[in-house]
Amino acid sequence: MKICKTVKEVKKEIKKWKAEGDTIGLVPTMGWLHEGHLSLIKNAKKGSDKVVVSIFVNPMQFGPGEDYDSYPRDLKRDAKLCDKKGVDLIFAPEVDEMYPDGFCSYVDMNGLTGELCGKSRPIHFRGVQTVVNKLFNIVEPNNAYFGEKDAQQLAVIKRMVKDLNMNVKITGCPIIREDDGLAKSSRNSYLTPEERALAPIIHQALDLGKDMLKKGERNPQKVIDAISEKILSVGVTKIDYVSIVDALSLKPVDKIESDILCACAVYMGNSARLIDNFSFEV
Ligand code: PAJ
Repeated sequence: MKICKTVKEVKKEIKKWKAEGDTIGLVPTMGWLHEGHLSLIKNAKKGSDKVVVSIFVNPMQFGPGEDYDSYPRDLKRDAKLCDKKGVDLIFAPEVDEMYPDGFCSYVDMNGLTGELCGKSRPIHFRGVQTVVNKLFNIVEPNNAYFGEKDAQQLAVIKRMVKDLNMNVKITGCPIIREDDGLAKSSRNSYLTPEERALAPIIHQALDLGKDMLKKGERNPQKVIDAISEKILSVGVTKIDYVSIVDALSLKPVDKIESDILCACAVYMGNSARLIDNFSFEV
């Protein structure tokens, strides 16, 4: 497995592989890899001849006061995991390599980012789109893999690829969870033992909402209220949002008549903002 720090090194490898007729699968990550990331790698191995994992904590997608500085980083640890999973190349650039002096171009969108995480993280998706666009241009993947855990991110990337005629197939992969239901996340490492013990309430509350929908509830506010109440009942004090939005437009709905996404972001303690979601087909 190769570890490349520069765009030039990556492009050289990619050129060689393309000349040999290999297809390339890209798994973009910010590192501190866990089973969620590894499941994307597994899918990439199935779908492409060569697998590239990018590891880059992208400053452009973090707002002021967010956890850019404290985000966990350990390339050695991540490289071991990637090697074990048969990854062919890690691209782990420094910030200057991705955003050299004078950098001033962005990729952004008007729709899909006004609700959910986009509301409290207004510059987040511009940063995600810009970095993913750069990664696509550097790696030129046939396939790229994203987790359904970041449902809004997946929708944004799919839309960007469609709108801008990008030549890459996006595959969404299911949420990988701990045994107690907590969605795996690099940010779970911020949790104190007490917060970790409370955190599965997020999934339990979403499950309660899903049950209500299965039983026929079609008033989104009733479902949102039940989910919020359950989360707050264990002593969690700050919910960023619990929302039910149309699965395609990501806009809130008054009545549940077509497929929806139910998503939430919850603060556990001071530092960890955890997200989770489920989709429901009507
Ligand atoms: P990161 O949070 O490291 O996640 C990388 C990929 O792993 C994303 O597609 C995310 O949805 C997926 N993932 C994370 N936890 C998962 C889980 N429990 N189950 C399934 N998939 C999971 O998302 C980012 O990085 C960044 O925004 C990035 C796309 C790399 C751009 O900087």
